[in-house]
Amino acid sequence: MSTSIKHFGASSDFLSKHRAQNPSSRTILVTGATAGIGLAIAKYLLRSEAKHLLVLAGRNNDVLIDLQTKNPDRVVTTAGDMSDLDYVKSIISGLQLAGKLDGMILNHGTLGSCQRIGGVEAEDWEKTFRINVTSLVVLIQSSLPLLRSAQGKVVFTSSGAAVTAYTSWGAYGATKAAVNHLAMTLKNEEPEVTSLSIRPGVVDTAMQDDIRNKYLGNMDEKDQQKFISAKKDGKLLPAEKPGHVIAELAVRAAKELSGQFLSWDDPKLADYQAK
Ligand SMILES: NC(=O)c1ccc[n+]([C@@H]2O[C@H](COP(=O)([O-])OP(=O)(O)OC[C@H]3O[C@@H](n4cnc5c(N)ncnc54)[C@H](OP(=O)(O)O)[C@@H]3O)[C@@H](O)[C@H]2O)c1
Repeated sequence: MSTSIKHFGASSDFLSKHRAQNPSSRTILVTGATAGIGLAIAKYLLRSEAKHLLVLAGRNNDVLIDLQTKNPDRVVTTAGDMSDLDYVKSIISGLQLAGKLDGMILNHGTLGSCQRIGGVEAEDWEKTFRINVTSLVVLIQSSLPLLRSAQGKVVFTSSGAAVTAYTSWGAYGATKAAVNHLAMTLKNEEPEVTSLSIRPGVVDTAMQDDIRNKYLGNMDEKDQQKFISAKKDGKLLPAEKPGHVIAELAVRAAKELSGQFLSWDDPKLADYQAK
């Protein structure tokens, strides 16, 4: 792992000049930015006239390099696996942010191996928690000083599985319930920071492909049908729909939303829908 400090732009004074020239620009970390909802979020933020600065994380370095090459000054990338907590700790400490991080979109996630509780290996359960929950805690800890002073926003990509139990999704659903709890606790502990978790709906990404192609076997018939028919009947959402709402929330979520778990299309979020 490289120990050199990464910075935006060609030289280390780019950041302060960019912020002075673009006062609406926000500096935002997006995890799981290499595919699906996270990639839609990153592209949306990069298109903004506000000229946001993005720290993009994921495992697929080819996608990260492509985003960086197309946006050479405004993107810094960090490739790694969120199950490796040493990597996670190095993400914020390895960046020159000049004292300011305005937002974090904690979006990466794994279904784990989708085993029923009776058969899941403890190590497998624990790894799903490390990726979906513990890495978020580590990222929050390392960025809180910057988020407090920026009155920053933390947006978690949660799931309907946080509040609905699907057969064989125990580990995944429990991690998303924990994510919602993280947002609620942060609201109480960190009054300067706005944190909320978003339910993105059933979205047409690799995660849904995996549900249909790899994980149906351990699910009950009724649960299988829900996901098969969502695809067959054209009910899957494009990643851009929830992605754009999540992106807008990371830029300007109102304080009164803090601690809440809301569906991406909740009427309370009408102001954040892409026009
Ligand atoms: N799709 C849905 O219907 C749906 C519904 C509810 C909630 N969600 C949530 O939405 C979020 C995004 O999922 P998606 O649907 O966009 O799925 P996706 O297309 O599979 O994207 C998942 C993203 O998370 C990253 N990721 C996964 N495991 C990782 C790990 N161990 N370390 C680092 N990065 C990791 C992936 O990185 P690489 O591609 O680089 O490996 C990718 O960028 C997840 O939190 C998921 O739980 C999705």
